[in-house]
Amino acid sequence: MFSEEKKKAIIDEKYPLAAKYDAEWQLENEMGSPCLWLVESVANKMNLKPGMRVLDMGCGNAISSIFLAKEFGVQVFATDLWVAASDNWKRICEAGVEHLVYPIHAEAHDLPFADGFFDAIVCINSYQFYGTADTYFNEYFGKLIKKDGQIGFALPGIYKEFDEMVPDYLKEHWWTDFYYFHSFDWWKRHFKRCGTVDIEFVDDFDGEGNSIMMKWEPIPDRMKLVRIDNGRNLSWIRMVLRKR
Ligand SMILES: C[S@@+](CC[C@H](N)C(=O)[O-])C[C@H]1O[C@@H](n2cnc3c(N)ncnc32)[C@H](O)[C@@H]1O
Repeated sequence: MFSEEKKKAIIDEKYPLAAKYDAEWQLENEMGSPCLWLVESVANKMNLKPGMRVLDMGCGNAISSIFLAKEFGVQVFATDLWVAASDNWKRICEAGVEHLVYPIHAEAHDLPFADGFFDAIVCINSYQFYGTADTYFNEYFGKLIKKDGQIGFALPGIYKEFDEMVPDYLKEHWWTDFYYFHSFDWWKRHFKRCGTVDIEFVDDFDGEGNSIMMKWEPIPDRMKLVRIDNGRNLSWIRMVLRKR
């Protein structure tokens, strides 16, 4: 059960497509971010067309996959490691999109798909877990998408790389994993160096990258880091690549 305040907070008119989805359902299935706000904003910068084959990589509870199928009529391969395919299948069937969304349980370095299979890839709050190695994109992820296909990311990040360690005022709430938060420039350089994609679009969600974090933080109420940072470093990054 979620408070009326939290349910109200997740229904935001800035995200009119996401706002159509039950607040309780969004909250029950959240995995650390306002997934539907992010996927709506990323999808708005892509050319998703009905019938396209889309990989939703690191889909968690597959709510972004259900959203993409319902809103854009695409076929979605809802792929995740931590969440069992059977659990996602149940949610997919309950949402009535079993003809469009296929749950897959897989690790990002062992993806069971043919090269060039996907028309597009969407990746919400997930790529940072496995995609920061210099070789990852070309060896694994990038092979799966066809030429000219788009890849859309929502990445938790920072405005500027830290000189060395996280600033003292953030230390108490910083887990070492969080060093996978990188800056806009870091991600741009990371993908430029791949030599196999063009960067089509990068921004901080129309200037809202930090305020999305600040608005979201009191909902799950477990990311004190965001409150303490108070807009100094942390921001969501939106990025769209196109495969050469
Ligand atoms: C923070 S959750 C986000 C889930 C969902 N995209 C959302 O926004 O609600 C990160 C997801 O990345 C997936 N993930 C992390 N490491 C992975 C890996 N090595 N291979 C496949 N998926 C991975 C996890 O299974 C998890 O569901």
